[in-house]
Amino acid sequence: MENTENIALVVGATGITGSNLAEELLAQGWKTYGLSRNPNNSITGLLPVKADLLDEQNLMEALKDLSPTHVYFTTWMRNDTEEENIQINSMLVRNLLNVLSPKKSVQHVALVTGLKHYLGPFESYVKEGKLPETPVREEHPRLPLPNFYYAQEDEIYKASERDGFTWSIHRPHTVVGYAVGNLMNIGATLAVYASICKETGRKFIWPGSEAQWNGISDVTDAGILAKQLVWASTTESAKNQAFNITNGDVFRWKWLWNRLADWFGVESEGFNGTVRPLEKELENDQEIWKSIAEKYGLKENNLDRLSSAWHTDLDLGRPLEVMCDLSKSRKLGFTAYKSTEDSFIEVFKRLRAENIIP
Ligand SMILES: NC(=O)c1ccc[n+]([C@@H]2O[C@H](COP(=O)([O-])OP(=O)(O)OC[C@H]3O[C@@H](n4cnc5c(N)ncnc54)[C@H](OP(=O)(O)O)[C@@H]3O)[C@@H](O)[C@H]2O)c1
Repeated sequence: MENTENIALVVGATGITGSNLAEELLAQGWKTYGLSRNPNNSITGLLPVKADLLDEQNLMEALKDLSPTHVYFTTWMRNDTEEENIQINSMLVRNLLNVLSPKKSVQHVALVTGLKHYLGPFESYVKEGKLPETPVREEHPRLPLPNFYYAQEDEIYKASERDGFTWSIHRPHTVVGYAVGNLMNIGATLAVYASICKETGRKFIWPGSEAQWNGISDVTDAGILAKQLVWASTTESAKNQAFNITNGDVFRWKWLWNRLADWFGVESEGFNGTVRPLEKELENDQEIWKSIAEKYGLKENNLDRLSSAWHTDLDLGRPLEVMCDLSKSRKLGFTAYKSTEDSFIEVFKRLRAENIIP
């Protein structure tokens, strides 16, 4: 059934968050536009908008015939320092909202950030002495550290005062979902690693810390995040608030790691006293991946486009267990749930079905 009143603009629609959100909006009958620099994903019904958020003139041209009612901001660009992250990533939000402002069509803007809100930016990520209280809760005050998430939030608050739209902020934990060629993707990273282990007979070695291996954790299925984005942007009591979002179950990696290894039919190895980063484990595997891709006729023979080991290392290497409190959105009626094991296995199955892994 088509939802004729609402027009969604998903910003970053080829990414892990944006593509899954676009699928959810379309499934719920929304007219949905998807913006990115290379909007070449194959989502049926998604209306592509090719634009670079860094270029206001280019944005203006690309959006000239479009007046969205709901804007979902699901993008970021990775820079060397947090100061640069702040400068660039706040500009992405500002440029878009400046271009949309004169149209007066926007009713709600939803922004996806994440747990770096509580854990600090990559360059000072969960450093000893700065560990937050877990489970993390939305009312946790901002850390006294530069953080591009805070800068993006501030752009939304400012534009909301100027233009009168409502807003919501969404803070997922590590996102599990199907995407190819995006910046941070634990599902594709582990799928590629396990496929290399399978092919070479190597063990599937836990790359993280003792605290993450033994502790309680949670993750965020991109589909659950998508449902929360749509819910918050259409629910009166959820307006102008920030929400954590995870699958709604908790697990220990020492349990899940072995289950994932079993799915691929590889032998797993747990924490053995030292952190053994995946980035190092995979550093010489480009040629191996190329030969696997050739042998099985896979679509992507560039390991770097599938694996974001640096990010998986950061998340699994934290010196403390991390999980989120979900009470805030649950109390307001958002109760979607997903089994984390299913999240990973569904991504693995889709990567296989799309000929990305053997
Ligand atoms: N992935 C995770 O595990 C995770 C976990 C927690 C929080 N988060 C947060 O979630 C938010 C969204 O990240 P994501 O992981 O979904 O991103 P992503 O998968 O890397 O996708 C980024 C999207 O933005 C587009 N894009 C990048 N630069 C652009 C530009 N200059 N102009 C127009 N489009 C541009 C990309 O397409 P093109 O390259 O074609 O332009 C792509 O569609 C970020 O704040 C991130 O920190 C992510």
